[in-house]
Amino acid sequence: MQVDVIVLGAGAAGMFAAIEAGRRGRRVLVVDHAQAAGEKIRISGGGRCNFTNLGITADRFLSKNPRFAVSALKRFTQWDFIARVDAAGIPWHEKTLGQLFCDGSAKQIVQMLLRDMDKAGVTLWLGCALGAVTRDGTGFRVDSARGPIWAEKVIVATGGKSIPKMGATGYGYKLAESFGLPLVETRPALVPLTLAEQELEPLKPLAGTSVAGRAVCGRIGFEEAILFTHRGLSGPAILQISSYWREGTGLTLDLAAGQDLAAGLRNARQAGGRIALRTALARFMPEKLARHVEIVSGFTGNLADQANAALDRLAALAHGFPIMPVGSEGYRTAEVTLGGVDTDALDARTMEAKSVPGLYFIGEVVDVTGWLGGYNFQWAWSSGWAVGQHA
Ligand code: FDA
Repeated sequence: MQVDVIVLGAGAAGMFAAIEAGRRGRRVLVVDHAQAAGEKIRISGGGRCNFTNLGITADRFLSKNPRFAVSALKRFTQWDFIARVDAAGIPWHEKTLGQLFCDGSAKQIVQMLLRDMDKAGVTLWLGCALGAVTRDGTGFRVDSARGPIWAEKVIVATGGKSIPKMGATGYGYKLAESFGLPLVETRPALVPLTLAEQELEPLKPLAGTSVAGRAVCGRIGFEEAILFTHRGLSGPAILQISSYWREGTGLTLDLAAGQDLAAGLRNARQAGGRIALRTALARFMPEKLARHVEIVSGFTGNLADQANAALDRLAALAHGFPIMPVGSEGYRTAEVTLGGVDTDALDARTMEAKSVPGLYFIGEVVDVTGWLGGYNFQWAWSSGWAVGQHA
């Protein structure tokens, strides 16, 4: 088999790149070991696919080189992708924080991409394992379960390590290494965090409790829901902060984000303070959590018994609750992989490896990781578009 362009991986980035290259008249083959294309798209966003975000800016992506993603994100924007979704007649809505979801099903996005690949004349091989990729003359030889494939250009779009059950492998990283490209250390991101047994034990009754809070790590914080789980912490605020958190550092949780607890408690005391502290706190947060904060504070007695200084300390504790995660739930549940192919080794306009002409890396396999909320798919579309104009 001989093609112009072979795309390794039929995920979001690979399919988009194939469409763009195919539209330029290139003979494109996409190969994936999974039985279906775009499986992560299908399950994403609770089955509705949060396909982009209205607030895409490069500072919402983590990378050793934060400027790397700028070019691709500017040349194929969220508006460009929205135009594709509109042209395909897929209804969508903004849920929150600029996050755009399908009204119906994520499968509509997969179908749109498959249709566009078909129209662009792209060939798709599913259920086909990939082997070694080697230089062959001016092009490449890619070994596969269906035999060797010769291609002028190779686009690596095999994604990250998250959710191995869905076919994620370290294939792209190994391939990069085999061509001498540097990697930025990988780690699970957008992932629930775990607590040590002694910190978890008193929090166990809170499992399943969610609070509108803010999770802070160093100078960065995210104001969204925090969920207490049987193993530690989850919810969007925690998933977001997990990309910034490192072992050995703590988080502070604001358990009453956007509320002035000190003033609220004083007002409640004035209005008749013969209520338990936990009852007063429960006006600002879930009851179980209020009970926990009261216990941790060490304060006893009624609200009426507390001096201003005590209420201020209680409020400060609830607005800056310290917590020390010890790890994460790992790739089993992580939405994405932080790190990957070092962007220093890639051309930001074309995604081509600087030292290996004709070899490209796009999507999650690259050291570009977005926030939660449609950012990672936009990176897949934008980087896929960029390579599709060139390969
Ligand atoms: P992706 O992982 O999509 O595709 C890689 C492809 O390569 C797969 O089809 C895989 O089978 C194939 N492959 C891997 N190894 C191979 C090998 N050795 N041989 C052959 N094929 C191989 N993002 C977002 O923006 N909005 C959202 O709503 C969500 N929701 C979400 C939910 C869940 C549960 C997860 C796990 C992730 C998300 N994400 C998300 C993240 C998003 O899914 C992710 O960033 C993109 O899918 C990355 O696209 P890629 O094409 O780079 O990799």
